[in-house]
Amino acid sequence: MYVCICNALTEKMVNRAIEAGAETPDQVFKACGGERTCGRCVPQMEQMIAGFQVLQGCGTCPFRTLEEVAPRVAEAS
Ligand code: FES
Repeated sequence: MYVCICNALTEKMVNRAIEAGAETPDQVFKACGGERTCGRCVPQMEQMIAGFQVLQGCGTCPFRTLEEVAPRVAEAS
């Protein structure tokens, strides 16, 4: 599934950038070789980044990848 249509960034590509250390949508764009154009994808990227940061802060959480937690974050929002 595409997160950013303008840059053809898939969910997997964005997750990889976040797991590699991107903490803002602009850092995700940079890591993926894209750039912010229309900005429609930014709220979803921010949600993905926040979900990853929640994971990092929970030492007892059994979920360790964004693919595992993404459906739960989507359910909660
Ligand atoms: S959808 Fe990502 S910049 Fe347009």
